[in-house]
Amino acid sequence: MIYLDNAATTIQKPPQVIQAVAEAMQTLGNASRGAHSGALQADRVIWNARCKVAALFGFSHPERVVFTANATEALNIAINGLFQPGDHGISTDLEHNSVLRPLYRLEDQGVISLDFLPTDALGNPDYKCLESLLRPNTRAIVMTHASNLTGNLVDLERVGKFAKAHGLLLVADVSQTAGSIPIFMEEWGIDVLCFTGHKGLMGPQGTGGLCVAPGVELRPWKVGGSGFHSYSRTHPEEYPTHLEAGTLNGHGIAGLSAALDFLQEVGIDAIGEKENRLLSRFLDGVRQIPGVRVYGDFSQPRRCAIAALNLKDVDSAAVADALMADYGIAVRSGAHCAPRMHQALGTASQGAVRFSFSWFNTEQEVDAAIQALWELAQE
Ligand code: ALA
Repeated sequence: MIYLDNAATTIQKPPQVIQAVAEAMQTLGNASRGAHSGALQADRVIWNARCKVAALFGFSHPERVVFTANATEALNIAINGLFQPGDHGISTDLEHNSVLRPLYRLEDQGVISLDFLPTDALGNPDYKCLESLLRPNTRAIVMTHASNLTGNLVDLERVGKFAKAHGLLLVADVSQTAGSIPIFMEEWGIDVLCFTGHKGLMGPQGTGGLCVAPGVELRPWKVGGSGFHSYSRTHPEEYPTHLEAGTLNGHGIAGLSAALDFLQEVGIDAIGEKENRLLSRFLDGVRQIPGVRVYGDFSQPRRCAIAALNLKDVDSAAVADALMADYGIAVRSGAHCAPRMHQALGTASQGAVRFSFSWFNTEQEVDAAIQALWELAQE
């Protein structure tokens, strides 16, 4: 298989990630539950991972790095923990359902009201509309760092400044960018940063989390076992346990920790540059093919290595099926859990065929994908 669905999850992981998971499965006890060597080893592995996550995102509070099963869980904790009845929230048309559905649910329950920042023709947020969406009861802006459909980057620094100027909180979903694009949580004014471990960070599935700036109050979304204050009826107030309940995925976190070492060794810039080189090669090739329409803004100096396209008016799932069946090329088609972005681009019924590249892809694989599209376009 030629794997070009890295925006969904990376399949090719650094070998040290696999080794770290295997070793953890043979050695880790239950972190914060016991003082024997296995439990202490789990504590050490998890604490080291918190420190590496904090360093990666320019955040100086590793004790406020909370681990979750994925970005969706992190976003549910942030969104449900932040808004109060009667609040107003702002989001964007670029969002994935992991942002949209928790927000919609609160709106449908009558807890909050919502507005969405529209996009321009290339799928970028129309920042100048932000001011017009403000209301006296606006509490937070919840937005992605990049569209998972087009790969367009959002200027989080600009939105962070706007949020601070108006006393709003900024919740950022960096699922698509972490590992490929440098992120500066404190410098950009992000209050809650939600991430996943299994995409660009190249860690195991079942890992993710959120970084919560000091002073930001989040009500726990789940409560339960914590390993301390056991006689208290309520879940501990102390971070990170405040937002973590039950046994953590220590094995997965050990793998994520090894993945973060790999990223540090290779360097985010080197990874981003290679991915973007592959993307440019792909775009140069597919733009020559009659009937190919590519979505997104490719004038951005740095972006996610994603190209979403359609071949004439052929259903995107039919193209993706043919790529897999006839050429062994794995891509994602359909709606990509990004309904508003598809509606904005006019691709709601056709969907789009999304190619997404990683550090482990090669120029030969890119060329094979271009060739396959040429052949399909001729059929
Ligand atoms: N969010 C993932 C994607 O974009 C699953 O495919």
